[in-house]
Amino acid sequence: MELDFGTVYLDNAATTYPKPEAVYAAMDRFAREVGGSPGRSGHKRSLEAGREVLLAREAVAGLLGVADPCRIVFTRNATESLNLVIKGVLASGGHAVITSLEHNSVWRPLEALARAGTASYSIVDCDPAGMLDPARIEEALLADTRLIVCTHASNVTGSLLPIGEIAELAARRGIPLLVDAAQTAGRYELDPGGMGVQYLAFTGHKELFGPQGTGGLYIAPGWEIDPLLHGGTGSRSESSLQPDFLPDRLESGTMNAVGLAGLRAGVEFVLEKSIAEIRRHEEELSQLLSEGILRLPGGVVYGPREWKERIGLVSFNLHGFTSSEVASRLDEAYGICVRSGLHCAPLAHRTIGTLENGVVRASFSCMNRTEDVGRLLEALGDIAHAS
Ligand code: ALA
Repeated sequence: MELDFGTVYLDNAATTYPKPEAVYAAMDRFAREVGGSPGRSGHKRSLEAGREVLLAREAVAGLLGVADPCRIVFTRNATESLNLVIKGVLASGGHAVITSLEHNSVWRPLEALARAGTASYSIVDCDPAGMLDPARIEEALLADTRLIVCTHASNVTGSLLPIGEIAELAARRGIPLLVDAAQTAGRYELDPGGMGVQYLAFTGHKELFGPQGTGGLYIAPGWEIDPLLHGGTGSRSESSLQPDFLPDRLESGTMNAVGLAGLRAGVEFVLEKSIAEIRRHEEELSQLLSEGILRLPGGVVYGPREWKERIGLVSFNLHGFTSSEVASRLDEAYGICVRSGLHCAPLAHRTIGTLENGVVRASFSCMNRTEDVGRLLEALGDIAHAS
């Protein structure tokens, strides 16, 4: 039976849908034809599974311009990667600086460390459009600051933050920079090594088109951290100690090889399409949508006006409606999927003044078409004019 959950999917910043056919095929092939546990046994299915994981690692390393694939560690998602670094770097205390656009995957682990008395942190304010003056990061650094955490692009405002400049000032002070690239991996050229970024967290299920449950972390040479999980790695099994080399040190337990086979196919799809083309397409759709919303009675759009300064999502409200009312009507009456509320990023909503009502967010992938924008604008027009 075919399920019909809506015909226009505009919630790609939460997770991309649909995935390219090659992603479904790669996972199906792995599950049916390979099936072994990667890096554990000596038989052919296990060896092939290990090869699949290696190919996925090489694909991600290639996308990120990282010469040594072992510096890419696979995790379940960006949240796990961010936790690994935050808890690893601040295990013995110290201070962290974060921006006011960070997701709860950054804020909550830091707040937990602060409440346990282990570490402290400061939040640097971005402006109401979601732009950050890097000088404010410098002003917030303390003698014991051990980590700067910055999202590459906000999942609420879509604004791109000046990672290059922040990396430079961090390097002058010898402080590592952790970049949350959950929204930019696959839709923006990333070169963590070239940018001087020490840690870059990414998820597989957004614009890299992998399945949910895949993600990872780039770790620059010399910035190794302790694991959150200890256990079997298929290597140095005689020892009670966790291996001291990457990626094994941070990859305990059976890997999600089915998912990683899908992730590799997703990364290959992105490379084939080209990130520049993906960006151009999403920018075009976002601009069209944003201009249309601003023409509606009571239409408000958030985030920077300059398209070079943002990614392919549009956060908005219709005056007189809560964000959840608009999203529910779009879903129920028009079959359009968007996300409303706080997007797990209350700090960002506080920054742009939408903590109470949240915003409606429509987010694109390269699978969306101009007709999708037309359908959304038509539906929003009905809703706005019916008020
Ligand atoms: N953080 C994801 C979002 O923005 C799930 O929707």
